[in-house]
Formats: sequence, C-alpha cells, structure tokens
Amino acid sequence: MTGKRFPDDFQFGVATSAYQIEGAWNADGKGLSMWDYYMRTAPDMIVDHSNGDVACNSYYLYKRDIEMLKELGVDVYRFSIAWTRILPFGTANYINPKGIAYYNNLIDELLANGIQPFVTMYHWDLPQTFNEKGGWLTEKTVDWFGDYARVLYKKFGDRVKHWVTINEPHVHCFFSYGLGWHPPGIHSPGIGFYECVRNLLLAHARAYHIYNDDFRATQGGKIGISLDMEWPVTNSNLDEDAEAVQDFMAFNIDYYLQPIFSKEGNYPERFIKRIADASKRQGYNVSRLRPFTKEEIVYLRGSADFLGLNHYTSKVVYRNESLRGAYEVPSQNDDLWVGSYGDPSWPHLFKLWLYEYPPGFYGLLMHIKNTYGNPEVYVTENGMYTEHATSLIDNERVQYYRNYLSALLDALYDGANVKGYFAWSLMDNFEWSNGYIFQFGLYAVNNKDPNRTRTARKSALVYKEVIRSRIIDYTYDVNPYEERNGGSIHRVHAFFIFCLSVYLTYVY
Ligand code: GAL
Repeated sequence: MTGKRFPDDFQFGVATSAYQIEGAWNADGKGLSMWDYYMRTAPDMIVDHSNGDVACNSYYLYKRDIEMLKELGVDVYRFSIAWTRILPFGTANYINPKGIAYYNNLIDELLANGIQPFVTMYHWDLPQTFNEKGGWLTEKTVDWFGDYARVLYKKFGDRVKHWVTINEPHVHCFFSYGLGWHPPGIHSPGIGFYECVRNLLLAHARAYHIYNDDFRATQGGKIGISLDMEWPVTNSNLDEDAEAVQDFMAFNIDYYLQPIFSKEGNYPERFIKRIADASKRQGYNVSRLRPFTKEEIVYLRGSADFLGLNHYTSKVVYRNESLRGAYEVPSQNDDLWVGSYGDPSWPHLFKLWLYEYPPGFYGLLMHIKNTYGNPEVYVTENGMYTEHATSLIDNERVQYYRNYLSALLDALYDGANVKGYFAWSLMDNFEWSNGYIFQFGLYAVNNKDPNRTRTARKSALVYKEVIRSRIIDYTYDVNPYEERNGGSIHRVHAFFIFCLSVYLTYVY
C-alpha cells in the first residue's frame, strides 16, 4: 500500500473505441469507413486475418457492457462514435436516424446508471468517401470534420460534457500514412505523415472553435484531444544520448503538445530545424514539414480545455554511428535519427513494444505540468496486453495497473493536475493489425461464442477495488474463478460451515 489516496472527485473509467468493439459494420444504414473498406481489400494486413465486422458486437450488446461498467463501479466511460454510423457518406447533408438512436440509447443508459459519457469523435475510422478524396492528406478533411463535430454537439451535447476530438494523431498518422499498415495503406513517412498530423491538429482546433462559438454557452462542456506519448530514458552520460533524448521529446511529445498547450504555440524549434536541415541536405527547396501560418498558430494555441493523455510505455534512446543508414530517406525516423528500445530489465511480455516502466509515466506527467502550465489532464488510455489464450488470472496486468496508478498518484501528490484515469480497455477487442491475438481487456471476451461472452479477469476485480477504496492495496487478492462461479454463493457456504462448526463445538 502506498498510503496515498485518490481524491474523492478523481474520475475512474475505462475506454474503448467504435471500430474495435461495435461490430455491425453495415447494419441499420451505417456507411463504409476506411477500416471497413480496407478489411475487404487488404485483409492480409491483419496478422490473424480477422477484422472488426463483429468484434465484441457491442452495437447489440451495449447493455451488457454497461452491466460491466456498473460492476467495476466506474464514474466515466470513454467510447468513440463511428462517423459513418451517424453520417453514412461522411457529409452532414444526411444524418442516419438509426445511428443517432444507437448513441442516444447508449448515452441515456449510461446516465441512468450514474456513469458519465466521455466521447471520442474520431478514433481512426474515417468515412471511405473522404478517403477517396484524399483523406487526412487534404485540408478539406478539416471542414468535413468540423461539420461532423457540429452534428455531434447538436445531437448529443445536451448530455455529453467531455469530448475528445481526435484519438492519437501520432499513432494514427504513423500507421496509416507513414508505415502504411493501417488504412488507407499509404507509405509516405517523410511527407504524408507530417501532412496528416497537421490536418488532424487543425481539425481538432476547428471542432474546438465551433464548440466555443456556438455551443459552449448553452452546453457548458469541455473539449480535449487524446495525444499518445512514450517517455525517453537514458542511463548514459554521452552528449549524443542527451541530444537524442531532447530530439525524441521534440518529435514525440512536444510536436503535439506545443501547438495547443504552450503560450507561444507552433511546432518546437528543434523539430522544425531538424526537418528543415534534413530536407535541405536531401535537395528539397522547402522543408517537408509544411509550416503553420501565423493565423493557424493562433487558431491552434489554447484550443483545448483538457489534455487526454494516452501512455503505455517508455523507451531507452540513444544516438551513435550504428544508426547510419538505419532508416528510410526521407522519413520521420530518419529526421529524428534516434535509436530506441525497451530496457530488457523492465517487465514485459513477448518482447513486443510494451515494457513496464512506471517512472516514465511519472516523468511524463511532471513534464506536462512543468512545461505547459499544469493543464487539466485525463489519462484517456493506459493498459497492458496479454496473449489471447491466457487464463483469467492476469497477474502481469494487475501488477502493471498497480504500478502505473501508483506513479500517477505520486505525480498527483507532486502537483500534477490529473483529473481522471481510463484503463484501456474494458474488454478484449480488435487490436488493429494484431487482430485478436493480443488483448488488453479487463474482461476476457470469447470471440468463438456468438454471444461474445465477457468474463471478468483478476485485473477487473482489482481495479474495482481500487475504485471502491481509492487506494492501491498491493496485498489485496481475489480469485476471478470463484467470483465467476458466484463468489457470494461461496461466501454463503463458508458462513454456513462456520455456523455449523460453532453449533457442533459449543451446542451439540
Ligand atoms: C492505442 C489505441 C487504442 C488501442 C491501444 C492498445 O494506440 O488508441 O485503440 O489499440 O493503443 O494498443
């Protein structure tokens, strides 16, 4: 036990996203998103050849999801709206009444159960119609996103008081337009990637200003953006490695924070300069990073009421000659020119990307506090995967959550303005390119079962206890199998046996 307590008004929640859980990909008038289209044209891009056509089937099973939220005792639920369920063709000229009805039901049922909706407008499922017109590589998307946001405020803003405009510009643009593994599968790591981020940031600002101008006075909610960030670490004293840390921060952290959350706005100088220098060396006559205009800098600056922080892991970073020729030219990786890896001494599973290093979470929260005037922060995603086949006893995940929540508490006690925390994720779901192989759920989902049965893992029950007690008790233990078979029935049995033994000892 750390002895520290979460304040009474601290909000606990869990997060999901539409494409990862809803299924019903073409039901009730829903239009095609770029994920729906991609799953029909490039199914090999998913390791297990699965897709989100059915996923957790939450379009039909949302009431079961709410039962789980009740069981956990969360205050808030972060879910996303599928753009094409509301606007099947993307544009706001036709609104799908069944899509509106679905989210009305979900929101109303949440509120009836005392759970606040925390709604993401865009979690990577761009309407395919817009993808065909250039997607996030065209600035027109900023207008389309603004029109969509306006529809959402009009239809749901009376009840939704926290909006996340965009989920993770960095990961979205890196996978979709840098690596080209996610739809639309465009490989343009040195130009397309930066254009995508630029347009996403501007789209966010558009949604913020529309709210400010036309809805804030009557609806009184808050608008934020969810930014993903990893924390760079070095144990070396070499100047090159210290530089690598600074550059990693500029490219992965301040690139996204500074335009919106700093006083001066704009991209970080260090970042602008590295890309300008690399572009020049490569023979471009202008930087591959298109600068913001003066008006855009002002438009973006201050365009958020809170920061949504998605954080999973840290990286050891370094720079040396071994990186010569390591990255494609031109690319964001080459512009940054830093090597990174997960420290093998940090707990991790399967040597993939997620290494447990809670001090990195603390460091990041304190960086945000100290550099950006201590903005209101909601941790909108944090969590740990296990392999699909694991049992309900997910001790690695339990340990991860306890340690990261402890780091959060430390930052909170050191003055970071963290208002809430969302575990990723409520349940196992479609994990993008990794299909259903790696799972992040507090609840296991049986996706061989047509009912997509959900069962609480140990981590769900431990998180429930954190929410109830507002402390992190490392000694608390619980067996999900007993709870599943009716923990209360076991307890009744135990009580009966106790009474019987008292009777036999003292009375009989
Ligand atoms: C985030 C993403 C989520 C989820 C998570 C776990 O980047 O926003 O949708 O997939 O990673 O990998």
